[in-house]
Amino acid sequence: MSLRVVITGGAGFIGSHVVDLFIKNGFEVLVIDDLSRGKVENLNEKANFVRADIRDIKTVRKTMEDFKPLVVCHLAAQVSVSSSLTNPVNDASINICGTITIAEEAYRAGAEKIIFASSAAVYGSPENLPVSEDDRLQPVSPYGVSKKAAEDYLRLISDKYGREFSILRLSNVYGPGQVFGNDSGVVPAFIESFTNNGRANLYGFGKMVRDFVYVKDVARAFFMAFSKEGGIFNISSGNGTEIREVFELIKRQFRGKDANLLPPRKGEIEKMILDSSKAFQKLRWRPRVSLEEGIKVTIDHYLGIKKGESDE
Ligand SMILES: NC(=O)c1ccc[n+]([C@@H]2O[C@H](COP(=O)([O-])OP(=O)(O)OC[C@H]3O[C@@H](n4cnc5c(N)ncnc54)[C@H](O)[C@@H]3O)[C@@H](O)[C@H]2O)c1
Repeated sequence: MSLRVVITGGAGFIGSHVVDLFIKNGFEVLVIDDLSRGKVENLNEKANFVRADIRDIKTVRKTMEDFKPLVVCHLAAQVSVSSSLTNPVNDASINICGTITIAEEAYRAGAEKIIFASSAAVYGSPENLPVSEDDRLQPVSPYGVSKKAAEDYLRLISDKYGREFSILRLSNVYGPGQVFGNDSGVVPAFIESFTNNGRANLYGFGKMVRDFVYVKDVARAFFMAFSKEGGIFNISSGNGTEIREVFELIKRQFRGKDANLLPPRKGEIEKMILDSSKAFQKLRWRPRVSLEEGIKVTIDHYLGIKKGESDE
């Protein structure tokens, strides 16, 4: 019998890559997703699927009891920082209560481990760069607060059941499948502005620094965390890149228009770089795809060019 994994948010951007990688490695996968942002088209056809809200205790309990996963990768979340500012109750409800429900029901049904998608947002505005896992957690958005609270609940609940957990604090993830839209990352936003022949907005005059990590590298981190000892790990490139540089990389491939340089938006952190050396020491994980390579593949994907990508 193959090993069983539940992946919440498996119809979403990162979750669907995690699903594909586990299935490719012979696991039996069940996805829980309410399709509020995820898409059925993203779902691997070999995955079992339960359309449900992660806060629906009855359905989550039945699903966990019936499927009996060995491990749960928990990625379903309210993912937008700006929505968390306008509707913090909804953010807290999904990200905190949803995580409590998943953790309680997964461990109750016998799961050995939960691997949770947390975020660099738990650190807030860092004092030192790059930020390591032991640095101060002082989130500056409701989204960051809810991710931090979810981490704390996961620790408490795993302790109660005597089981394991891994927390992966992801930096800025980009790659094929990331949705265009108001809350999308800069990579799809820039690609869209070029394909529409428009002008992109560069907030903070393009000087803000982020740590971009390719989505298939992130999926591999979930997979590697499965078989290794639990813990808290930053998952990132470890390199800071000015948003302006990302814009230029994309512009080069489109020969598009210049951007509008605008002041920073309220509440945005100026620089964020995560130190992911612990993930290398403990999980033997390190990113493999450079920003140049990842952006090229992402653009090709968006332009519908079939590429012979490999997960390894
Ligand atoms: N994209 C990034 O750069 C990034 C960075 C740090 C952390 N993360 C975390 O990674 C995870 C995946 O993010 P993503 O970028 O793939 O976003 P996404 O929106 O593509 O995926 C989230 C998925 O969760 C589902 N979902 C949302 N609310 C739900 C609910 N109440 N019940 C069931 N399903 C629900 C959505 O339908 C979607 O498929 C999230 O936990 C996010 O906070 C993402």
